[in-house]
Amino acid sequence: MESTTGTSSKTEILDRKNAEALLGGGKERIESQHKKGKLTARERLELLLDEGSFEEIGKFVMHRSKDFGLDKEHYLGDGVVTGYGTVGGRLVYVFAQDFTVFGGSLSETHAEKICKMMDLAMKNGAPVIGLNDSGGARIQEGVLSLAGYADIFYRNTLASGVIPQISAVMGPCAGGAVYSPAITDFIMMVEQTSYMFVTGPNVVKTVTHEDVTSEELGGAMTHATKSGVTHFVAANEVQCIEYIKQLLSYMPQNCEDEPPMLPYELGDEKRPALNTIIPDNANQPYDMREIIEELTDTGSFFEVHKYFAENIVVGFARLAGRSIGIVANQPAVLAGVLDINASQKAARFVRFCDSFNIPLLVLEDVPGFLPGTDQEWNAIITNGAKLLYAFCEATVPRVTVITRKAYGGAYDVMNSKHIGADMNYAWPSAEIAVMGASGAAEIIFKREIAQAEDPQAKLQEKVEEYTRKFANPFRAAHRGYIDEVIYPEQTREKLIRAFKMLENKAASLPRKKHGNIPL
Ligand code: HXC
Repeated sequence: MESTTGTSSKTEILDRKNAEALLGGGKERIESQHKKGKLTARERLELLLDEGSFEEIGKFVMHRSKDFGLDKEHYLGDGVVTGYGTVGGRLVYVFAQDFTVFGGSLSETHAEKICKMMDLAMKNGAPVIGLNDSGGARIQEGVLSLAGYADIFYRNTLASGVIPQISAVMGPCAGGAVYSPAITDFIMMVEQTSYMFVTGPNVVKTVTHEDVTSEELGGAMTHATKSGVTHFVAANEVQCIEYIKQLLSYMPQNCEDEPPMLPYELGDEKRPALNTIIPDNANQPYDMREIIEELTDTGSFFEVHKYFAENIVVGFARLAGRSIGIVANQPAVLAGVLDINASQKAARFVRFCDSFNIPLLVLEDVPGFLPGTDQEWNAIITNGAKLLYAFCEATVPRVTVITRKAYGGAYDVMNSKHIGADMNYAWPSAEIAVMGASGAAEIIFKREIAQAEDPQAKLQEKVEEYTRKFANPFRAAHRGYIDEVIYPEQTREKLIRAFKMLENKAASLPRKKHGNIPL
């Protein structure tokens, strides 16, 4: 491996090709990345940042280690390219780890470079984007690299809720290389080339005797579907970087800033297609995404956590140019029931939107919480409470539309008026009740039904009575819990007006150090 100390003149180093070689981007190294279907750190940054906008910081940093032969092996930049630039004209701070230098592992100096970016980002109120490709703590450096990680985790945490932090995982990331992304707001992974695990397959085999491949243990689809660790899965690195740009487009630069608003001219905002999406039979599923597509600006819906807890849909969209976050029950999966994963997924999304002034739209069709030992033993109580807590705490403009079922505790949880929603609409098909009519009738009229000459007919009669009373939005509207019952086709127009009306909303929470969300 080439040693750079004292061998190059200043001008040679500044020559880009030569600098690439010294920065671990030599021809062989570039090819080694390409062979694995990966781009180099610099190629990734070139794709991400506006042309000509990148300003590199810390190009000449080298590690200071002497152990295990490291004194003979130096690379300028020490395995991470750091700096700032713009995406769509907006300032961002970046770091891109270079797997070709000690496996992108994190040394004391590598960590210092990343921390410098995070400190600048915090002082100047702009997002940090990390392109991670790292084997974790540089093993040869021992506690110095562990300290470096801790310095990053600390900054990740302090920056949380102040500036957006986005992590792309673009290679095999292990140990500390997964914990820093885990504290950031969003993680993206690339299919087939990126992995995330605390310990890799070899350690797993030794400790638990499980035979598992890297892909099974920590591949993109594993984390997208099973653990929910990743929010996005990209087919390749180019798509991954496009996702980062798209995601940024909905966000403000920091928590004091407003999300960007795109120009929009109001026209005919009626959407008659919405009138026919809800099936006549209340037990028949439909795809909530169809409603989202009709309600939002064409092509603007950007789904987050698409493959995880599919019984709830979350994502960003635009409404007349305004950035909004959507949380929607999905009747097409498990009837849209709330379970542990759905509650966690939605709670995290709500908290992100609230941190960064992104108004929330909730589309509700929920039959309740999922019953069963699996859910109870794994703490649906604590986890469901996360979503409740997240909504209660959110001070951004919040609007709910009940499309069909709003049953039980889920009615309360899903951005009800009582927990601080600003505007609550219901479609005529809405059913707002403690539970479905047949379950309710069986419980409250149990004796009457049992004593009836024809129990089946009696049950039917009671179901109808309960349905007449509760399977509609009007009792809630009489109380003002629902502000207006609207026709589906009017919904987009109503929402545009409501969010405009709420744009100067000012609300704050009681003074406290911080709350204690049920984790
Ligand atoms: C130093 C490392 C390294 C590391 C990889 N390399 N990881 N060098 N420190 N952590 C070097 C390898 O020696 C190799 O060098 C080159 O990078 C490429 O690695 P390969 O193993 O050949 O690549 P690959 O087969 O793709 O496997 C990638 C990998 C694997 C899965 C990441 O290298 C691996 O398991 N690394 C160790 C992971 C780990 O245990 N890290 C420490 C975690 S503890 P040569 O010279 O041969 O090219 C941690 C503490 C923080 O991070 C905890 C916070 C809570």
